[in-house]
Amino acid sequence: MANTLRVVLVFGGRSAEHDVSILSARSVAAAASSDRVEIVPMCMAKDGRFMTVERSAAVLARGEASDRGDDDFSFEVWSRTADVDVAFPLIHGTGGEDGALQGYLETIGLPCIGSGVTASAVGMDKVHMKQAFAAAKLPMVDFVPVAENEWRNERERVTRSVVNALRLPYFVKPANSGSSVGVTKVKSDADLAKAVEFALRFDDKVLVERGIDAREIEVSVLGNDQPQASLPGEILAGREFYDYEDKYIENKSQLVIPAKLPKEKTDELRRIAVAAFRAVGASGFARVDFFLERGTNRLFLNEINTIPGFTNISMYPKLWEATELKYSRLIEKLIELGIEHSRRRADRLKGAMEWLEGEKRLS
Ligand SMILES: Nc1ncnc2c1ncn2[C@@H]1O[C@H](COP(=O)(O)OP(=O)(O)O)[C@@H](O)[C@H]1O
Ligand SMILES: [Mg+2]
Repeated sequence: MANTLRVVLVFGGRSAEHDVSILSARSVAAAASSDRVEIVPMCMAKDGRFMTVERSAAVLARGEASDRGDDDFSFEVWSRTADVDVAFPLIHGTGGEDGALQGYLETIGLPCIGSGVTASAVGMDKVHMKQAFAAAKLPMVDFVPVAENEWRNERERVTRSVVNALRLPYFVKPANSGSSVGVTKVKSDADLAKAVEFALRFDDKVLVERGIDAREIEVSVLGNDQPQASLPGEILAGREFYDYEDKYIENKSQLVIPAKLPKEKTDELRRIAVAAFRAVGASGFARVDFFLERGTNRLFLNEINTIPGFTNISMYPKLWEATELKYSRLIEKLIELGIEHSRRRADRLKGAMEWLEGEKRLS
């Protein structure tokens, strides 16, 4: 087993997507384990603390409860002697996808698969994400950002600016969330305040967007410096929009892979997906979600997800399968990309330290 890569798969987390993360991790562990890859499971329990490798393995293998972490277990201490080659953070949403976990892994010295701290944070915060997309001149629906203090102190002015800038229906959403948690479709101005208050339960910043009647198309992106885009796929929502119920409870939505689209639209989607990936400075992998407006046939970027759902039936890997990269090979590729990206970062850090030492000697 000399050349086996040890990959610590970090899953669970304190977010609404805890259970989805377990499903993603279970799929990855089953598909990735080979004579080249050894998966070491590391579950962050719902209370935000890590569980021992043994208990984490039981969560994956037997669905054991993951409510509580282990008081006397330290991931950091464990990692010093665990001989891990790379960490695969697979926690969706807050605390996993927003740079916090990436920063922790970096701080304890573990190379990491996927986006680093900055890209994760920018990708997670819908206001910053849109600013990055706007700087790259990528198409988006009109929106108005609303900060909690503005809303509390100047509600009338904020409401007026929304009414003047946007057409009904609106979509109101927290800047940092995911899984459609806190998202409301607003059909009359009288319902705006309730939707903003609801979104403010999840973040102190919300967005009001022009709601459009659109097909929802997603593209998978893979790579570091030369990211590639997969074929697009389409989500057929089972409810009025692709809300939390639809994603995780009713399961009536369907994936159409590849999406039925003319070649030019497919090409445009792939091009914008790569541009979006670059705009936030993502690395490794990300899923880029679009709206294709019915009637006008115009494309709008909705969002980038730097840790997309990763079960073997999730959109991200399914799109790669349709683009002729099968699930187990995709995981190997991600491991390679993560190691490459981290190695370059470590080399640069070493170079910087050497330069600094040189400067000190000179002075
Ligand atoms: N501007 C919009 N127009 C039409 N539908 C929207 C709009 N914004 C969000 N939606 C619907 O709400 C869902 C969740 O919104 P999204 O911004 O993707 O949040 P999340 O990050 O929670 O997935 C989308 O998949 C879509 O169905
Ligand atoms: Mg979404």
